[in-house]
Amino acid sequence: MTASTTYRIAPSILSADFARLGEEVRHVQAAGADFIHFDVMDNHYVPNLTIGPMVCKAIRPHVQISIDVHLMVSPVDALVVEFAKAGADLITFHPEASPHVDRTLSLIRDQGCKAGLVLNPGSPVEHLDWVMEKLDIVLLMSVNPGFGGQSFIPSTLEKCKAVRKKIDQHVSVGGQPILLEVDGGIKVDNVATVAAAGADTFVAGSAIFGAPDADGRYQGVFSQFRSALSAIRQ
Ligand code: DX5
Ligand code: ZN
Repeated sequence: MTASTTYRIAPSILSADFARLGEEVRHVQAAGADFIHFDVMDNHYVPNLTIGPMVCKAIRPHVQISIDVHLMVSPVDALVVEFAKAGADLITFHPEASPHVDRTLSLIRDQGCKAGLVLNPGSPVEHLDWVMEKLDIVLLMSVNPGFGGQSFIPSTLEKCKAVRKKIDQHVSVGGQPILLEVDGGIKVDNVATVAAAGADTFVAGSAIFGAPDADGRYQGVFSQFRSALSAIRQ
């Protein structure tokens, strides 16, 4: 990564107070969030059940930043259309959850959203081959999907370096830029290591919404994340 890398922080609302969701997303936006990370679980592809397009539509007017919808669902395609209508800006899905990955990526872009694939800790990076030109973002899971508050899986770092190489190679031959986002167990004390491995976008759920913050507005934890990231610029 170079001094010009823009680092993005994407709070996962999975750990927010759902009874005050509008206020929670407004506060993280004011504290400096770049994306709202929106975890969709269907109790089928992953063993948990969370939120759908209605909730995306409900928070949409509360923030101006992009809503980054992470689909942990199977099948995928019908929900892509619903989330695009509900105001999603980015939509990512797991290649194992769609029988036609190329088609689903095209569908996401056709709906006017940025498209991405999500790689589980055990999923090979080769899923990205042959669809690089259809990706706006790659999301690397650093925990097994399904729950917030799990520990970062260290092998993600090597995988992150491998994906960074693939993206840089793609861009060096004229390909479009692709964000590299990491999701799961990201904390103030490991974010710089993950950035050094090549990530530019960081999902953090429990580290942000669980932060002991005097005023409940998350300013403190955001400035800690920003200073950890600025330390690796030199
Ligand atoms: C896990 C979700 C994550 C999760 C991250 O399936 O995709 O976005 O909420 O939570 P933390 O940051 O608590 O690991
Ligand atoms: Zn997620």
